[in-house]
Amino acid sequence: MTVQLRPEAKPVRVALLGCGTVGTEVVRLLHEQADDLAARVGAPVELAGVAVRRPHKHHDVPAELLTTDAAGLIASDVDVVVEVIGGIEPARTLLLDALRAGRSVVTANKALLAEHGAELFEAADAAGADLYFEAAVAGAIPLLRPLRESLAGDRITRVMGIVNGTTNFILSAMDGTGASYAETLEEATQLGYAEADPTADVDGFDAAAKAAILASLAFHTRVTAADVYREGIAAVSAADVAAARELGRTVKLLAICEREADDEGEAVSVRVHPAMIPRSHPLAGVNGAFNAVFVEADAAGQLMFYGQGAGGAPTASAVLGDLVAVARNRVMGGRGPRESAYADLPVRPMGRTPTRYHISLDVADRSGVLSQVAAVFAEHDVSIAVVRQEGRGADASLVVVTHSAPDAALRSTVDKIAGLPVVREVVSVMRVEGEEL
Ligand code: NDP
Ligand code: HSE
Repeated sequence: MTVQLRPEAKPVRVALLGCGTVGTEVVRLLHEQADDLAARVGAPVELAGVAVRRPHKHHDVPAELLTTDAAGLIASDVDVVVEVIGGIEPARTLLLDALRAGRSVVTANKALLAEHGAELFEAADAAGADLYFEAAVAGAIPLLRPLRESLAGDRITRVMGIVNGTTNFILSAMDGTGASYAETLEEATQLGYAEADPTADVDGFDAAAKAAILASLAFHTRVTAADVYREGIAAVSAADVAAARELGRTVKLLAICEREADDEGEAVSVRVHPAMIPRSHPLAGVNGAFNAVFVEADAAGQLMFYGQGAGGAPTASAVLGDLVAVARNRVMGGRGPRESAYADLPVRPMGRTPTRYHISLDVADRSGVLSQVAAVFAEHDVSIAVVRQEGRGADASLVVVTHSAPDAALRSTVDKIAGLPVVREVVSVMRVEGEEL
């Protein structure tokens, strides 16, 4: 291969912070693809150092590159800082220092971006430095660049998808093989999908951070993790999965970002929660650690992005793509896109967000029960789409699926129904997405 380098090209020197599941693959790709990367960038891309906590554990990295002094590595003669440590500190301080020193930054750290994105963007702007983070959402899938660049001339109205591989792996197994929650989580951790603390995955924090990043880019508005309504999958039971199956549906943890106008004007809503979707829905066929995201825009219509959402090599692919972009900018001159938050839309609270519920009840099997339950829905102005009742001796199973209503009205309805003397148990309550029933 003949590598075309600019005659005056100095190597682009890279500081890698962290060398775990993702970092190890970044080191491998930098080494194995050195010639191609040099040709694509127009200059050699050189690994200047790798900061870790426990250097003795890293036999695949040349010893002279390893350091525990991440701050010292950033302050040395480097052009680009790649952060794959994770978490808020010390990553936040290290990246602010890197940006202030004019280094280009590539990070996969969604937790940091969703909490301190504004501060990082401001530091990048002040120094005229690049901040790229494609790997932070949906692993290998090119998704943020299309939102930031390809769709920058359109008006995005909705982004909905499966953005957490660990929970999708668990829910797929619960639906497909009946495997237990605990054994599937253990497998996801061994495969390198789960976060260092897997509660970030199962309690929905990871998906909520990704939803905040997606909404910020899609709606040109600062959205932080704290703005995102969040429910994880810990409460999803075998009964919920079975109830979904009976309705021809499956349960997925969805991230849903919407831009809509109501009586109070235009706003965005951002939520993460389990939902039943029809088995015919394209997201129903997204299994294992795969992710998929639908984007709806006024002119483009519907777009779908699908691929591996977690794991070392897929995530390293996205990191390397960003590394090539920022290295090219350094060699050729120029900068990538800045933060775009001009729309500054308010975030609508979950209570006012329209949703639909599937409610499964165990009720007394006698006359008048259905009308008592129906009266509670009417009292809260919640319209019923489907009712199914099945007698079982003295008890009956009653399933109700609603039309769309404000989430607060649906919650109040469920609370009141749970208190009716004729209701023995609320077996399952879950939101439904997909077409109206
Ligand atoms: P790991 O836990 O596997 O690796 C973390 C690395 O950071 C380790 O090498 C660790 O060193 C190092 N580290 C921790 N603290 C420090 C510190 N204070 N100074 C220097 N190094 C430190 O994480 P992952 O590779 O899984 O994830 C990294 C990032 O990528 C996270 O932000 C994560 O959210 C994100 N991400 C991960 C994906 C995945 O599938 N795993 C997918 C998409 C994004 P040592 O090894 O010595 O302990
Ligand atoms: N823990 C995350 C997941 C890694 O399971 O999706 C990818 O961001």
